Amino acid sequence: MRRPESQPKICDYEGSNYRVDFWEGKGRDYEDQVERIALRRLLPGSGRRLLEVGAGFGRLTSEYHAYERVVLLDYSFSQLEYAREKLGDGRFTYVAADAYRLPFRPGTFDGATMIRVIHHMADVPAVMRQIRRVLVPGGIFILEHANKRNIKAMLRYATGRQKWDPYDFKPVEFVELNFDFHPEYIVQQLEQAQLKLETRFPVSFFRVDALKNTVPTQLLVGVDALLQHSGLLVTPSVFTRSHTVGNSADNLNTSFIFVCPDDGDELSHDGDTLVCRQCGKAWAQREGIYDFKAPVNEMET
Ligand SMILES: C[S@@+](CC[C@H](N)C(=O)[O-])C[C@H]1O[C@@H](n2cnc3c(N)ncnc32)[C@H](O)[C@@H]1O
Repeated sequence: MRRPESQPKICDYEGSNYRVDFWEGKGRDYEDQVERIALRRLLPGSGRRLLEVGAGFGRLTSEYHAYERVVLLDYSFSQLEYAREKLGDGRFTYVAADAYRLPFRPGTFDGATMIRVIHHMADVPAVMRQIRRVLVPGGIFILEHANKRNIKAMLRYATGRQKWDPYDFKPVEFVELNFDFHPEYIVQQLEQAQLKLETRFPVSFFRVDALKNTVPTQLLVGVDALLQHSGLLVTPSVFTRSHTVGNSADNLNTSFIFVCPDDGDELSHDGDTLVCRQCGKAWAQREGIYDFKAPVNEMET
């Protein structure tokens, strides 16, 4: 695929076994359950159209039952294939695309979520601007981010076992395309993208193998759910909810949601492809998934 030189690198999960290598049977029931509790606290009672950015294999998509329509977007076609197999079509639309180049009209969604994804983003302002653009005025954005100022990191730093400073404002890239963020940095970035923070809270207090292996999961989950109200932002994961401020477009009632990801222009149907009226690039729909990763009429370079 030809991407502009200036585009940030992508942490590509294409073909990865993320579901079975990281989640299923891997001792992460605790994390999964506390994230669901956090999401339920933040999701509205009803909604029209939700965008899940970096939906992966659809682990959390079952939580979005209050929305009339849910668009699952991920850069990995194979993750979406699995999600579609599990969830079917119904209320769901599957879109393989880059979060830095969202192929949607401005103001297409009244809600967006991004869970366990921003830690792969080298250009946080760019991705937040994109999400802001596709939300209607007052649209809500639920974001989970990895927190660099967590207890483990603070202890390691204090005892000299970690070089990077957990109190420093700047993101830290501890492994290529894996970032931890200071909670205040995230708030600043949300504000710069005209997303106003409503609330945020700590999640996953007990992400420690020694505890998870000895204490019953339901006990850890129950105590975590209580501590989520503590305001102690010292966990490896922080959930935030914000909403768009300022003027923006409203295309919530428009049923055709797509635009060309490269230039934002209108698309026309040509059989199974969507063709940009401006640049002529054609984007295919295959196996029930809209594929905006590479145009079908442009050769690899
Ligand atoms: C750690 S997984 C999280 C998946 C899901 N949100 C969950 O919590 O189970 C990160 C996902 O982000 C996707 N991703 C990373 N960079 C992306 C980008 N630039 N655009 C779209 N998706 C991206 C990956 O393909 C992967 O599926």
